Amino acid sequence: MTDTSSAPPTGATTEAEMPRVDTAKIQTSQPVADALVLFGATGDLAKRKLFPSLYRLERSGTLHVPVIGVARSDWTDDDFRDHAKESIEEHIPDADPVVIASLLQRLDLIQGDYAAETTWNGLRTKLDEHNSTVAVFYMAIPPSMFPTVAQKLESVGLHNRGRIVIEKPFGRDLNSAIELNKTLHSIFAEDHIFRIDHYLGKEAVEDLLVFRFANTLLEPVWNRNYVRSVQVTMSETIGVEGRGSFYDSVGAIRDIFQNHLLQVVALLAMEPPAGADPGFLQDEKAKVIAAMRPIEPAGLVRGQYVGYREEPGVEPESNIETFAAARLEIDSWRWAGVPWYVRFGKALAQRATEAVIELRSPPRMLFDEEGGPVPDRNLIRLRLGENDGVTFVMQAKTPGPHLDSTGVDVDVDFAAALGERQDAYERLIGDALLGSLRRFARQDIVEGTWKVVQPALDHPGPVVPYFRGSWGPSEADHLLLNDDHWYAPSPL
Ligand code: BG6
Repeated sequence: MTDTSSAPPTGATTEAEMPRVDTAKIQTSQPVADALVLFGATGDLAKRKLFPSLYRLERSGTLHVPVIGVARSDWTDDDFRDHAKESIEEHIPDADPVVIASLLQRLDLIQGDYAAETTWNGLRTKLDEHNSTVAVFYMAIPPSMFPTVAQKLESVGLHNRGRIVIEKPFGRDLNSAIELNKTLHSIFAEDHIFRIDHYLGKEAVEDLLVFRFANTLLEPVWNRNYVRSVQVTMSETIGVEGRGSFYDSVGAIRDIFQNHLLQVVALLAMEPPAGADPGFLQDEKAKVIAAMRPIEPAGLVRGQYVGYREEPGVEPESNIETFAAARLEIDSWRWAGVPWYVRFGKALAQRATEAVIELRSPPRMLFDEEGGPVPDRNLIRLRLGENDGVTFVMQAKTPGPHLDSTGVDVDVDFAAALGERQDAYERLIGDALLGSLRRFARQDIVEGTWKVVQPALDHPGPVVPYFRGSWGPSEADHLLLNDDHWYAPSPL
């Protein structure tokens, strides 16, 4: 018999292979920024997410800095302010005109080509006019532009006067992410690179930390001894909605899985951090991601909704997935042998983001001597989307003469119990201005998650068609072990 006791688990990252980050050099508390520079200020992300979030920051009295847009569009300052106003009014119908006016006063636009020196000199002059020494440079631009903008900032000495915020996707695969990190590190220190994953800005996702580590009730059962399987579903009912050409170059694995969902899995699976310092949290996430086995082709099903190939911007023969389901294995002391099932995609039956922790059955069934129904297993449903909250599915005695059991929900709706939560982008922009890295993705974590999905990118296999409004191709059921089945998310 081979002795495997000291061998690293098959496929999981060995210690020598783990990406290295010099965490000692990372300052977790940094000076508060005195200016916000928005690259891609006339683009789609700024319109949908950034201006509404800036409005919210203005409304809460936490925005104290000038906001300088940079864009190629041939717009005046007034065009830019009108555009910001429209975007706020479209997304926040009851927006307060006084708050909007006060935000618009902060806005300026530097119009110019990113390749032209005048653009960068103009930006530096504008920051000088505002006496800025610590700016946040927010890159709401296509990923192919990240290196250029970083290099241009360096060319006018602005790299020493601020930090950068980078939108996802961070790279297209492991190698390009490593390459991008190298380029950025040649200009900015790791603690000056804020990699956005907006799921980390969601209160319900962050709550996983509090839920797991502030409730003594849960920790004793949160492991392979009591947990039978874990399922994470992230389903959207919309299709690609005008983003066809972007989406067709990316697909669901890069769009959702490598970043949002593996971050959620890491928060669900990691060990308790050693302390409150944000670096400890990142360390634990990095460790559990390193313990995930790279996805094997047999553990992955990709699907494409019928009609996707007719979407504007999509290749007629496209093999890009709009759905995928995967079986993950985490070779850690806590999770060895527990299957983690993840499924995600567009044009599905219901909008939801939910994790279901399925506990093992009790060791003996005391109550079925009369041939009554066998009790269902306990579930902990963590709702991380719009209707965030938690439901414990417990067993209780069915009314009547027999000792039969039936499932009952012990349910909390966080909005009802706790009130309205902040928007993810509002929190993330606020954090970037404050210089807090807590809710951003560290280099080793980004590279570690690419490593997990890399085999699925290298050997994607076929895409299986599925109908809009379904739960994806039935082939996803073949990933399930034992007699497992997918749990439909809680109704909205
Ligand atoms: C984005 C993806 O990162 O997340 C989109 O690019 C997806 O395709 C979106 O729709 C989902 O975010 P949320 O916050 O609506 O769950």
